[in-house]
Amino acid sequence: MRHVVFLSGAGISAESGISTFRDSGGLWDTYDVMEVCSAGAFQRNRHFIMDFYNKRRKDLATVQPNPAHFMIAALQREFPGRVLNLTQNVDDLFEKAGCQHTIHLHGELTKARCERCGFVWHIGYRDIDPEERCPSCKGSSVRHHVVMFHEEAPEYEHLYAAIEGLAHDGMLVVIGTSGFVLPIDEFARMAPHSILNNLEPLPTIDESAFKVRLYEPATSAAPKIAAMVREYLG
Ligand code: APR
Repeated sequence: MRHVVFLSGAGISAESGISTFRDSGGLWDTYDVMEVCSAGAFQRNRHFIMDFYNKRRKDLATVQPNPAHFMIAALQREFPGRVLNLTQNVDDLFEKAGCQHTIHLHGELTKARCERCGFVWHIGYRDIDPEERCPSCKGSSVRHHVVMFHEEAPEYEHLYAAIEGLAHDGMLVVIGTSGFVLPIDEFARMAPHSILNNLEPLPTIDESAFKVRLYEPATSAAPKIAAMVREYLG
């Protein structure tokens, strides 16, 4: 049966006020992304990085989803079981927009993880306390549930399965990602139909792999994307 796979990055949340990673301005003028998002830096400076993610989690409390998040939630309701939502984002804007199911490839800020037993639990917008204990094994190595550079990303198994599943009757819709981390052009070549929405063409992506390219803010592209998805699925 025809189905759609959404794959988003920081750009989909930009208009909600969350800084993207590679655009200038905002958060990353203050922090070096490799200093706060890498496994090596975490080993060197655990306290600083826990504090960084505590601040990001607190920031999320007041951030609201935008029409691009709502568009995916509406399509999931309209076409049950036929709209898969994958995101690289660790924010909770899809959940706030009412998406029924979202796979967070790089984890979720609103969850904590035990390094000893692997247990993951919801913590909302509160800080992770340095003395915090795992509710499952009572261990004391509790951390943010965010995948950093040079760490494993267990949720990628869902991504690879979804990309393989595109082959015959799938549409891939990529919104707001630079393709630095994921080879989105290779993914697009697997799909009979594909849409790319970014602000601008990027040298990191072979954009010709996409059937449709929309270079504009995600909120203005959203109604066009929704129309194309409805036509494909309808
Ligand atoms: N609408 C659509 N696209 C936008 C918008 C917008 N309003 N604003 C920015 N973009 C696009 C930019 O054109 C850029 O291509 O979003 C992309 C953001 O790229 P990155 O900042 O590199 O973010 P992302 O691709 O999600 O990063 C991937 O890298 O640091 C890691 O783990 C982190 O998940 C992250 C991963």
